[in-house]
Amino acid sequence: MSNSNRSSGLFISFEGIDGAGKSTHISGLADAFKAAGRSVTLTREPGGTPLAEKLRAMVLNDAMDSLTESLLIFAARRDHLAQVIRPALLRGEVVLCDRFTDATFAYQGGGRGFDLHVLKTLEAWVQSTEGQALLQPDLTVWFDLDPLKAAERLAGARVPDKFEAQPVEFFRRVAQGYADRQQAEPNRFARIDAAQSRETVWQDVVTVFKTRAWL
Ligand code: TMP
Repeated sequence: MSNSNRSSGLFISFEGIDGAGKSTHISGLADAFKAAGRSVTLTREPGGTPLAEKLRAMVLNDAMDSLTESLLIFAARRDHLAQVIRPALLRGEVVLCDRFTDATFAYQGGGRGFDLHVLKTLEAWVQSTEGQALLQPDLTVWFDLDPLKAAERLAGARVPDKFEAQPVEFFRRVAQGYADRQQAEPNRFARIDAAQSRETVWQDVVTVFKTRAWL
């Protein structure tokens, strides 16, 4: 990735199947970075801008085919990158993003079985700007959890959206989608064993950042 994309900013994404328990750790990290004197942009996908949040509501609630779903998600991502992520990186901020493109490869590619070549093309279109390399996170923290355990955690927790209502077999394919992305780019990923206690998971997350001298 070229430096012109981001100045001294840091772009971190967080991934995992529904129920893997990433949310509390993302807000904990935001607090830790702020305590260390960094400016933080805490955001999510699909979403993060008024337009992208409208697209999120459609993606999470309305029935559509996999290409339509992928196009809406990448449209939301394009707006999010232009309005929020790139400007924050150029200001030198830490961008903590709850899900990014690995989720599309895992959910639409793995879960739905949608064409990975089409997703690759969309990724290249959406995450590149003229004269700059494709923007990817500096680090992706992957909360890896057995889909059966995730389903137990989610049971009765809230009214499920379109994805949360999927059967465990869907989440097995999603988990495999994440594993494939990690295998393709091992240096970008930090895998966290999300089956551990919340406290141990948090310690592991902090270690990932301390090891890189980012905290
Ligand atoms: P969240 O509940 O973690 O905010 O994520 C919203 C849902 O959207 C979650 O079930 C995963 C799904 N999703 C996709 O299917 N593809 C994507 O590219 C993204 C970012 C999320």
